[in-house]
Amino acid sequence: MKLFHSIRTKLTLWYTALLGIMLLSFGGISYFFTRSTLSDNLDRSLHSEVTWVNEFIEPKAKKVRLKRSALLELQQLKKSAAAPIETEQISTDSAAVDEIWNQIYQHTILSPRRQYIQILDRNGDLLYRSPSLGKQSLRFTDIPYGWIKVVTIYNDEGHELRIASTQNDYVKILVAYPMEELNEVLDGIFMIFRILAPIALLISVIGGWFLAHRSLKPVDTITKTAREISAKNLNQRLPAQAVDDELGRLTATFNDMIGRLQESFVQIQQFSADASHELRTPLTIMRGEIEVALRRRRLPTPTRELLTSVHDELVRLSSIVESLMILIKTESGRLAFQLSNIVLDEMVLGLTEDARVLASKKKITVEILRMDPVIIRGDAGRLRQLFLNLIENAIKYTPQRGTVSFSLTRENDQAIVSISDTGIGIPKKDVEKVFDRFYRVKSDGTGSGLGLAIAKWIAEAHHGTIQVSSREKKGSTFTVTLPVSPSAS
Ligand SMILES: Nc1ncnc2c1ncn2[C@@H]1O[C@H](COP(=O)(O)OP(=O)(O)OP(=O)(O)O)[C@@H](O)[C@H]1O
Ligand SMILES: [Mg+2]
Repeated sequence: MKLFHSIRTKLTLWYTALLGIMLLSFGGISYFFTRSTLSDNLDRSLHSEVTWVNEFIEPKAKKVRLKRSALLELQQLKKSAAAPIETEQISTDSAAVDEIWNQIYQHTILSPRRQYIQILDRNGDLLYRSPSLGKQSLRFTDIPYGWIKVVTIYNDEGHELRIASTQNDYVKILVAYPMEELNEVLDGIFMIFRILAPIALLISVIGGWFLAHRSLKPVDTITKTAREISAKNLNQRLPAQAVDDELGRLTATFNDMIGRLQESFVQIQQFSADASHELRTPLTIMRGEIEVALRRRRLPTPTRELLTSVHDELVRLSSIVESLMILIKTESGRLAFQLSNIVLDEMVLGLTEDARVLASKKKITVEILRMDPVIIRGDAGRLRQLFLNLIENAIKYTPQRGTVSFSLTRENDQAIVSISDTGIGIPKKDVEKVFDRFYRVKSDGTGSGLGLAIAKWIAEAHHGTIQVSSREKKGSTFTVTLPVSPSAS
């Protein structure tokens, strides 16, 4: 997908992923840190509670009998036994015990936390239970004397309790805190994280996308402009960046590079133009001199044949140099057009006469199939050259007694010139390439392969097209389409 081929998407995904990981670890760490701090606090205060209760009861328990049932028993004994029993002692015990429980109860009320206290005697019978416990009882698991054990349990109602227990010679003490408070705090933290994290991530995606879009926008502009720059418009430059950042420097470097390319390109063009020009004069002189020599009557036949052959080659060489010059000029945009209204049917008709002259040597028939009246706007000289290149090919690549036919059709605002032959045709694999410079199906030394390249360039310079359809050994049809002059239609 194209989306995943953009730096913008990758950047956004990257920092969203990073932020996600950071949020997760930050949330996780703060959650676990809070939990451990809170439960440490809880345990510490459970410890001190249980120690307090223990230290409160132990010295008193030495002096009084804590067990109510024991007191009742004693009272019972007193009634039935003959032996005298200190009832005094019994009633003081009972009052002292009540006082102990009372004080523990008060302590419970004053405590900032809700807590449960349960005290059992050595046999595990209940001595005291804080009112908050109601009818519930906490189970005591045995531990060595003087130890404090802290565990988490679930009570009968399914509530989580943190419970600390200890025992001394007289009693077993259990102090418990409900875990609800702590869990509520932790749930709160978790909740906040669950709401805030997606919001933060969403903001990061949108913000990241926007930032990446803003900072990478110049890249799109650079790409677009760079794509448009070709050999024909090397004077174009990428839009300069106002800021001297990575992209600004990249643009400047690119522009420098295009500048250097342009310089070399201009040099090469200049060199080629100069070279072709320099070749032209000596070639013309040589041709002239050979022509003069050939006019001599008393020339030995071998010498005449040699000179004729050299002359043919010189003609060919001159035409190559001529074509090259045209192509170089077109590429550097130095070839000027002289536009005028052209009566195309007249021009094509005139060209058929030229074709007849050229074709007569090979006894090729020239036919005119149709000749619609059409006026177009263009450069008469160049257009003649275009059609002559096609006619030359048609005759060159058609065997003796073949036919070359012409037609000029007007279709809406298009003038369509077709030149067909019954010649050797073009193999399928070559059809696409015949308009390339120097491309020839058979390199037999009879042409330079520039004719069609020039024809194509002239057609396109007139906002037209040139096409070919061909069948091997049957013949070819070249079709030139040119826009009709709007003023003349
Ligand atoms: N009418 C045609 N029938 C068959 N083959 C053709 C025809 N016209 C062009 N071709 C093929 O296309 C090639 C390119 O044509 P082009 O006119 O560009 O070059 P050329 O005729 O070889 O040389 P020149 O530059 O002298 O015209 C030719 O070499 C030839 O193989
Ligand atoms: Mg040709």
